Amino acid sequence: MRQSSLVVVANRLPLDDNAAPDGACEWRRSPGGLASALHAILEQTPATWVGWAGGIGPAPQLSDIGGLRLRPVSLSAAELRGYYEGFANSTLWPLYHDAVQQPVFDRGWWETYRIVNRRFAEAAAEVAEHGAAVWVQDYHLQLVPQMLRDLRPDLLIGFFMHVPFPPPELYMQLPRRVELLRGMLGADLVGFQRPQAAHNVAQLAQKLLGAHATDDVITVDGRTVHTGAFPVSIDVAEMRALSSSPDVLSQAKQLRHDLGQPKRVLLSVDRLDYTKGIEHRLTAYSELLRDGHVKVRDTVMVQVAVPSREQVDSYQDLRDRIESEVGRINGEFGRVGEPAIHYLNQPFARSQLAALYQTADVMVVTPLRDGMNLVAKEFVAAREDGGGALVLSEFAGAAAELEQAFLVNPHDVDGLKETLLHAMSAEPADLSARMTAMREHLVGHDILAWARAYLTALDHTGRLAERLPDT
Ligand code: ADP
Ligand code: G6P
Repeated sequence: MRQSSLVVVANRLPLDDNAAPDGACEWRRSPGGLASALHAILEQTPATWVGWAGGIGPAPQLSDIGGLRLRPVSLSAAELRGYYEGFANSTLWPLYHDAVQQPVFDRGWWETYRIVNRRFAEAAAEVAEHGAAVWVQDYHLQLVPQMLRDLRPDLLIGFFMHVPFPPPELYMQLPRRVELLRGMLGADLVGFQRPQAAHNVAQLAQKLLGAHATDDVITVDGRTVHTGAFPVSIDVAEMRALSSSPDVLSQAKQLRHDLGQPKRVLLSVDRLDYTKGIEHRLTAYSELLRDGHVKVRDTVMVQVAVPSREQVDSYQDLRDRIESEVGRINGEFGRVGEPAIHYLNQPFARSQLAALYQTADVMVVTPLRDGMNLVAKEFVAAREDGGGALVLSEFAGAAAELEQAFLVNPHDVDGLKETLLHAMSAEPADLSARMTAMREHLVGHDILAWARAYLTALDHTGRLAERLPDT
């Protein structure tokens, strides 16, 4: 078994299980912030990525991708249900996102979550060199840091939570709250998107574990665990290069033509997830049409909603509700050849996403709660022209950085309508000033800056960060 000095452990490997019938594998930029973010840095970094390749049954043999080795972890059908669809995505995901959907507490799922976390920890222990750094990602693998420490006390262990970490009053609902907290605090450094999350963990560590805890350092079981905020980002250079390429610019022109050369294009790009606020957005848009503030021929809305977690009941119900609402809105306000909403339930290539971003006059990003939201950052990076307005939920982590966006509370449908109208009628000079400020921020805070900041805080020496690519 070949071993690495840097190991990343995440539930999902960043490739499509269908993409490798002959054993050769290609990167699939799978929709989802974690894969988008890590793909950008790891593609060029000598490391091993431990994760699930999608599908069930024995893990496939996968070739290296550049310097990156892939170590697949297998899941059975029952494990997929109990661990991924169950405990991770029906209990933790909704609870961590403000319980915008009722979390399901099924006692049968816990044991499977534990068994699968153990399998990931064992796989990481197997591929890590003596003294290696292992960087564990996200809510699926919250028990892995402590399990790994028990197996391999020589390792430097990092954990990063891509999703929000809830306030104590919500976290306290979790039946396995102590084990989950202890598991995560097995790391040397626990990173979050926002400082509030580190504060929440400190309070919980005091309350549940009797630990001495501040917002930066927690002392538990005689060990010191550092915590902190490291807002994740995107590959700004990639998105800038894509969006200024002649091919993407001509795709964008064609898109606008295909949309009927409207005065304004409103765009949303989300995984089809109940945290993304798609229903609230449709309600707001439908009322703007009903009240005559927006006319179908002048304005077009494009909603990209890529399928996600389709075996989970709440996601199936959401899809049914959204598709029925889109149908109602198009039936009521559309004309022949002119739908009010173009609804696209498909994955897109990066270049197609860049072309869509170029086409948008108003990018509408209105999650009810989101750890970061990389789509908002991608839109800003794609608009070298300084055009376009970003309407952004206050409840996305990105709102703390993209302060010049048109910020909105998506729960307040009247406020959302007003903000949409405000963004649609803003002066070009105002839009350009806002976009320039946001772009300047992003250039200094791209994905490499994120990884460097995290890895430097993990090893305190900067040696780990030196392995990252230069640009
Ligand atoms: P989340 O991580 O909750 O899915 P983010 O906005 O942080 O939300 O990340 C979504 C990522 O998935 C972005 O990098 C975005 O470009 C990508 N993405 C979203 N929709 C699609 C799609 N239809 N096809 C391909 N990639 C997509
Ligand atoms: C969010 C989570 C990631 C997850 C992604 C896509 O970004 O934080 O961990 O990979 O959504 O979801 P999926 O269930 O398809 O992996």
